[in-house]
Amino acid sequence: MSAGHPELVAAIASEVTASGPIPFARFMELALYHPRFGYYVCASKPATSRIGRTGDFYTSSDVHPILGQVLTKQAEQMDRLLDRPSPFTIMEMGSGKGLLARQILSAAQRDYPSLFHRLRYVLIERSPAMREAQRHNLAPWLDRPELVTWVDNLAQIPTHSLTGLFFSNELVDSFPVHRIQMTAQGLKELWVDYQDGQFVECLKPLSSEQLATQLRRIGLDWAEGYRTEVNLQALEWMAHVAQRLDRGFVLTIDYGHTTQDLYSADRKRGTFLCYRQHTVHEDPFLHVGEQDMTTHVDFSSLAIAGEAQGLQTTGFTNQMSFLMGLGIEQMLTGLPQDSPELAAAIQLLRPNGMGTTFKVLVQHKAVPNPKLDGLQYQPFFRSALTTQSAA
Ligand SMILES: C[S@@+](CC[C@H](N)C(=O)[O-])C[C@H]1O[C@@H](n2cnc3c(N)ncnc32)[C@H](O)[C@@H]1O
Repeated sequence: MSAGHPELVAAIASEVTASGPIPFARFMELALYHPRFGYYVCASKPATSRIGRTGDFYTSSDVHPILGQVLTKQAEQMDRLLDRPSPFTIMEMGSGKGLLARQILSAAQRDYPSLFHRLRYVLIERSPAMREAQRHNLAPWLDRPELVTWVDNLAQIPTHSLTGLFFSNELVDSFPVHRIQMTAQGLKELWVDYQDGQFVECLKPLSSEQLATQLRRIGLDWAEGYRTEVNLQALEWMAHVAQRLDRGFVLTIDYGHTTQDLYSADRKRGTFLCYRQHTVHEDPFLHVGEQDMTTHVDFSSLAIAGEAQGLQTTGFTNQMSFLMGLGIEQMLTGLPQDSPELAAAIQLLRPNGMGTTFKVLVQHKAVPNPKLDGLQYQPFFRSALTTQSAA
């Protein structure tokens, strides 16, 4: 069985050998985003080969373009609620191959000329290989240079500069996480060592006070052996996003739960998973740099982190309810019955699949009491999120 990309394995091993065991979050950061050999960065394998039918995993944008069309409809309502600012900016972070951007730009151009005329689309993408794929997919719009632009990271966006919509799809689940285990001696963190030519895990004290604080805030009593993850980068990210928004919305789509659900007693192995060639397993030390790694998102903590930086929580729902609220049923009537296209679009709605696994969190700033069509139907967990936020 392959240990992974040889140069990447050597780079991580040499860091561990030089400094001693590293927190799992550091290992995951290097495995996914090492500046030369990381899974999302490595130029020797085209970025397009990561995501999609011939890659390691699908995202919703691969399944059917209707998600982009529905998001455009939601963005148009947000534009109206903001009194049609000029420009209206859509800032998308972690755009992968750029399929959603392509779907949104096409839908805006076709269906909402007034919005399209004022639109600026900014992609924030850390992987040069992914940026290349995005440029290719967005070629039809690159002749209007102010319409589509790129930045490498959030820090390049001035604070309070964004009026419009900041959104991401399956970004937060790809942030490196700290892994935690309850032991007879209390909570320990999983660190990564390198012994006899192999990566091995070891349990050591928590690597930072920030992690200890977040665990106290989660405040749940786990049984010995309980394993889970804490995505500190997600909280920091949300604070940075909130600071960049002047007026408008933050819309985050990802698989995840409220804090209570994510850290419930029955989820005792956590949610950490690796994806390679559409197979799923739990071993991060196999195929290092050649497989994706993800965890489910703690949406309550994201909402709280946003509130601490001046965002209000507009609502929280699942993908199925979000799409239904924006009229996907009507849009689907245009597709031929029994067609592969219709079957693909329906996948996004499946109550036992993408429709409920994926959640949508919307937050806003400086928009008085917005009522969004995508949040018309908010299942039971909205109150759970609010209770958490108020805590
Ligand atoms: C799982 S893919 C999501 C793809 C895309 N949103 C879609 O719907 O297909 C995660 C993307 O986020 C990017 N990414 C991860 N961390 C990032 C960061 N800190 N800044 C910018 N991009 C990031 C990765 O390079 C990759 O393109």
